[in-house]
Amino acid sequence: MSQEQIAPYGQSAETPKTRNRIRIPHLQRMKEKGQKWAMLTAYDMYTAAIFEEVGIPVLLVGDSASNNVFGNETSLPVTVDELLPLVRAVSRSTRRPLIIADLPFGSYQASPKQCFKTAARFMKEGGAHAVKLEGGPEMLPQVRKLVSSGIPVMAHIGFTPQAEHQLGGYRVQGRGEEARQLLDTARAFEEAGAFGLLIEMIPESVAADITKAVSIPTVGIGAGRSCDAQVLVWQDMAGLRTGRLPRFVKQYADMRSVLHNAARDYMADVETGIFPAVEHGFEV
Ligand code: KIV
Repeated sequence: MSQEQIAPYGQSAETPKTRNRIRIPHLQRMKEKGQKWAMLTAYDMYTAAIFEEVGIPVLLVGDSASNNVFGNETSLPVTVDELLPLVRAVSRSTRRPLIIADLPFGSYQASPKQCFKTAARFMKEGGAHAVKLEGGPEMLPQVRKLVSSGIPVMAHIGFTPQAEHQLGGYRVQGRGEEARQLLDTARAFEEAGAFGLLIEMIPESVAADITKAVSIPTVGIGAGRSCDAQVLVWQDMAGLRTGRLPRFVKQYADMRSVLHNAARDYMADVETGIFPAVEHGFEV
């Protein structure tokens, strides 16, 4: 790693007191240098702290909490009041990563004013440093309002899970004629002041064209190799999730088995009287 590169925290010579918050200009510089970076979702203090320790520069408190924390089937039901404490937990327990709060379905689409009010809550009450919203050109007024109010915003394009019923389910977007529209949308968001683009489930070549066409960072999920950054839901990345995984997920651990075995062994120890042992008790 050259000195010019932005050092992830885990590899930094900085002390905990001097380490600096990742800010949008850092992400911009990484794009200019062709330095790729990783983003993960986080919803609680322990995982957020681990991801910071590793050096992940950006954490997303995604509305995917809906179907990864709150037990819903989709991202639609989660509310601002449910997501806010998770954003607060992540921002309180980290010092270096940039924390992005996802705006939940129904909390920003109605108007730029509604969008501003929701985003301001995530910044003020949640301690977020930026927000993310989903959509196409119809969201440009919302993005302009946030930017003019000092709220950094990432636009989420391509497959947008909050619109899954409109889109007819989990489907790759941006094929054929749609590729040009997606490119125009990406450029329009850049012009409106978005600091980044999250691009979900589109053909690799379309994501590559968008990444070349805009000067802001692109963060891909199911968008191939050319994006400036990548994001995964942490439970997918770490193998906690059950069931069929999307094609774009790579599992880096089998957390489910680790936790399963630990819980099973604990239960057996309690049932057989092995735990607690003498050393776990207190003397008078
Ligand atoms: O909410 C979320 O987790 C997302 C993913 C696409 C990363 O937006």
